[in-house]
Amino acid sequence: MSDMVGRYRECGAATKEGLELSFSASSIPLKQRWRNNGLSADFLADYVTTFFPRVENDPKSLARQQEIRGAVNYIANELLENAMKYSDEHLTQPISIKLVMEADSILFVESNATNAARGRAFQAFVTELATSDPTELYVTQLERGVETGGSGLGLITMVNDYGAQLGWKFDDLGDGAMRVTTQVLLEI
Ligand SMILES: Nc1ncnc2c1ncn2[C@@H]1O[C@H](COP(=O)(O)OP(=O)(O)O)[C@@H](O)[C@H]1O
Ligand SMILES: [Mg+2]
Repeated sequence: MSDMVGRYRECGAATKEGLELSFSASSIPLKQRWRNNGLSADFLADYVTTFFPRVENDPKSLARQQEIRGAVNYIANELLENAMKYSDEHLTQPISIKLVMEADSILFVESNATNAARGRAFQAFVTELATSDPTELYVTQLERGVETGGSGLGLITMVNDYGAQLGWKFDDLGDGAMRVTTQVLLEI
């Protein structure tokens, strides 16, 4: 049984095609993993710019390319950081991130496994995110962060600063494990 939250879209045939990177959560040392995150986010951002070529003598085309590049880089970095920070290394389940280019949007689909307690806490958090005013929640999260030392601002920033639409799917894997899938739709 899957639970869906927010604007989650079941991936049909149309979204099977895309650029997908997949990693093992436990196969490489932590420091290397952080470096790989940055490299992967840069790679995905560069890849996307090839769909928005710079037109000679048109400064707007360069500005647009740079804007999209920045948004893809931020979103890919956040998704990969979360996957690395919160997936359960002991589960030997892969982490994947996929980019699907559509006529007027870019869809990111990130998936990782985590333990059931963390998965449920995440589900509660994103349910709040999907149903509240993101600007108000940003302030609430800042206050909570002071108390807990966490941030909880990465996903909200995607909504507030990049106008992204978010959706999630939670699948029980049994044995106290859960697969969480995060989708980010960026209209361009
Ligand atoms: N891929 C994920 N798997 C499991 N839990 C996650 C994942 N992404 C986010 N979370 C949970 O949601 C919270 C909010 O994530 P985020 O907005 O990126 O802020 P931050 O990572 O700074 O805490 C995290 O603190 C974590 O508990
Ligand atoms: Mg984060």
